[in-house]
Amino acid sequence: MVCLGNICRSPLAEGILKSKLFRANVIIESAGTGAYHINERPDVRSINIAKINGIDISGQRARKFSLKDFDEFDLIYVMDSSNYRDVIKMAKNEEDRKKVKMILNEVFPNENLDVPDPYVGGDFGFKSVYNMLDEACDIIAKKINSNE
Ligand code: 4NP
Repeated sequence: MVCLGNICRSPLAEGILKSKLFRANVIIESAGTGAYHINERPDVRSINIAKINGIDISGQRARKFSLKDFDEFDLIYVMDSSNYRDVIKMAKNEEDRKKVKMILNEVFPNENLDVPDPYVGGDFGFKSVYNMLDEACDIIAKKINSNE
């Protein structure tokens, strides 16, 4: 799960997807394309909206997306088109590029919609981001749980 800062959207996506998976042998991580917040906890507004929904993301720490993520993960979900461009720029080959998906395309195929960056804004932005990610992660989890 990749966003810009790895403190608002992708930590939520990581926590939400983990909460929906029955299989223990799936590794879910999140990272940011930017280095602004390395080693920080998720934004308190993300921690709070997750907590309201029964998910604890407070133990996560931000890290930067790295080249080796292409080798370690089968799927790389990005939150918006700017993350998409940044990650695609780092891809070494077509196999890497094929792993990169806009997360809301799970809900709205081929529309390339962004999960809006809620960093500058109030709590409402976090609630709607949570709901978008919850819907997308439901679909992703169903695919993984059914071993598709
Ligand atoms: P995120 O939100 O990409 O969802 O973690 C942001 C957090 C911090 C910044 C930008 C976006 N920032 O510029 O510091």
